[in-house]
Amino acid sequence: MAMTLQEFVTQLELFRLEAGRAFASAGDRAALEAARIEWLGARSGRLKQLQKALGQLPPVDRPQAGQRFHQVRQEVQQAFEAAQDRLAAQQKTAAAAELFDPTVPGLRPPLGHLHPITQTIEQLKEIMGRLGFSLADGPEVEDEWHNFEALNIPPEHPARDPLDNFYLATACQLAGGGPMLLRSQTSTVQIRVMERQKPPVRIIAVGRVYRPDTPDQTHSPMFHQIEGLMVDRHVTMADLKSVLRMLGMSYFHAQVHIRFRPSFFPFTEPSVEIDMSWQGRWIEMGGAGMVDPNVLRAVGYDPEQVSGFAFGLGIERLCMRQHGIDDIREFFRNDVRFLQQF
Ligand code: FA5
Repeated sequence: MAMTLQEFVTQLELFRLEAGRAFASAGDRAALEAARIEWLGARSGRLKQLQKALGQLPPVDRPQAGQRFHQVRQEVQQAFEAAQDRLAAQQKTAAAAELFDPTVPGLRPPLGHLHPITQTIEQLKEIMGRLGFSLADGPEVEDEWHNFEALNIPPEHPARDPLDNFYLATACQLAGGGPMLLRSQTSTVQIRVMERQKPPVRIIAVGRVYRPDTPDQTHSPMFHQIEGLMVDRHVTMADLKSVLRMLGMSYFHAQVHIRFRPSFFPFTEPSVEIDMSWQGRWIEMGGAGMVDPNVLRAVGYDPEQVSGFAFGLGIERLCMRQHGIDDIREFFRNDVRFLQQF
């Protein structure tokens, strides 16, 4: 039986409400699919029936009824798609819940970060590693042979003054052994390496050194040095300069130039102070020179056959310059507000 326009619009409204409710309450995919067939099914769904009823309306009412029909069809289609999305999201959450195993021990997120000095040390090791220098190590508590004697610093030398070094009363000394001290430079490692290894040698040593210097903006009684040593046939000052320049350029990520100023160290001849230019300013990096023949002899090398260069740089000074830090004491105050910046 044909409907009036009013009846048709009422049926349409009922269809909109009931279909929307059916889709919203479908608890799983199967229920939603059943609802879809019942309400939107192309062959005998309720929408199809309404479409037939639309065709039976008096022609004069059809444009208005048709417009409303299309609006409702669109709304109901959207309600169906929203239900589809809701079920897909539910399924995802359920799958994730199934994967989550509450019995697995938790993973702690990383806490804190490396101290700026450690970061600098890691960078220097990495750069020198690329240049073919391997890492050597030595003790921080040293005997006088490695800290002085073998480095061509004889007993009467002022550098051995107890006021300029941290001598220790150790069990070894109490038992009649020689005096021991906290090493005052990483050059001690040069000796330890050459004593046990024949040339060629290409090493770095990184670590803490101790001097009874009064703390100020640029001095600390404990600080870090990086030592470099290369011994082989025909090693020259030009090699030293190239290696230092490459070290500087890699560390500061910039063009740098190296300048040598004449200096004196008992274990190198000639000896130099190393300056490096970066951002238009010269920076003092440390000391260096050609290994003194007396040192080569002390470890059993033949100075007629081999030559070598050595250098020692202050790590705090490099790190301070890189980050624009103007007081070395900041590194050891351990104020997290300072450390957090690196
Ligand atoms: C030496 O220690 C030599 N062993 C370097 C060397 C190695 C020369 C190999 C030749 C061959 P010097 O005392 O100048 O040299 O110290 C080297 C660097 O350590 C200085 O340039 C400076 O950067 C740093 N330094 C020295 N004393 C302190 C200190 N109290 N606090 C912080 N850094 C320091």
